[in-house]
Amino acid sequence: MPVDVSKQYKTSKNLRTRANLHRTYANKSWFNWACGQAGFKAGSNIADIGCGTGWFWDQNQNALPSGLFVSLLDQSAQMVAEAQETLGKLSAITQVSGHVEIAEALPFEDASFDFVMALHMVYHLSDPDKALNEMRRILRPDGKVMIAINDSSNLKKVYELNSQVFDVAPVDPSTVMAPPAKVAAMLAQRFDKITQLIYEDVYAIENAEVIFSTLTSYPPGSNATEEQQAQLISTIGERLEQSGGIIRSPHKVLLFIAENPR
Ligand SMILES: C[S@@+](CC[C@H](N)C(=O)[O-])C[C@H]1O[C@@H](n2cnc3c(N)ncnc32)[C@H](O)[C@@H]1O
Repeated sequence: MPVDVSKQYKTSKNLRTRANLHRTYANKSWFNWACGQAGFKAGSNIADIGCGTGWFWDQNQNALPSGLFVSLLDQSAQMVAEAQETLGKLSAITQVSGHVEIAEALPFEDASFDFVMALHMVYHLSDPDKALNEMRRILRPDGKVMIAINDSSNLKKVYELNSQVFDVAPVDPSTVMAPPAKVAAMLAQRFDKITQLIYEDVYAIENAEVIFSTLTSYPPGSNATEEQQAQLISTIGERLEQSGGIIRSPHKVLLFIAENPR
């Protein structure tokens, strides 16, 4: 497990900071949309790999069919504990189990899940090939794998600010770690049917503090010197002023649904 990933997600603090940007500016719910695309059936057996705090489940509690069996897995013990507590309160969930393990070595039997989901996590994997092989291994032959990653244009105007202060590309860093075309190709090697869906929103961001907190919640911003932090604050302020007090940026996510494992 890379040190920066275990440090980044030791608690849910950094994830909550980033979620604040989405909570403040989203015009619709990403989690509700993704759940609608999954089309879970009553009684399904689901593995949530890199489950984080379990917000997906909490926010979809009124949309879930009954009798679900959910296995939550994350490398962070605190994330698993938070998610388990959340799901334990949901009436649609018949059984929930928590697993502090890594995606590259899943502690589950072959062909044991109807759904395997990995939302916003594949870009953290140290060995994505191994993790995708594991997801395919635990999936039933008629099951579905659902993977969400950000599109390269995601929050572009926000990440352009990052590149003015740090030596990074002016794009969402997760899309450098896991380029969408590479993820699509890796899935195509393992599944005969891949459906790619696009979720798109436009954020009108007027609060400099929300942008600053987001950009300093993970590297390189989380390791910024005081001088770099000051530079980032003034860069954000200048951009807001130039753009009439509002930075408009797409929030764009790609959802892959993979079926027919090879
Ligand atoms: C950005 S969060 C996404 C959480 C959740 N899926 C969601 O959409 O809200 C990424 C999560 O993946 C977990 N993670 C990262 N690498 C992992 C790995 N190799 N194995 C298991 N979990 C991992 C992190 O601990 C973190 O909780």
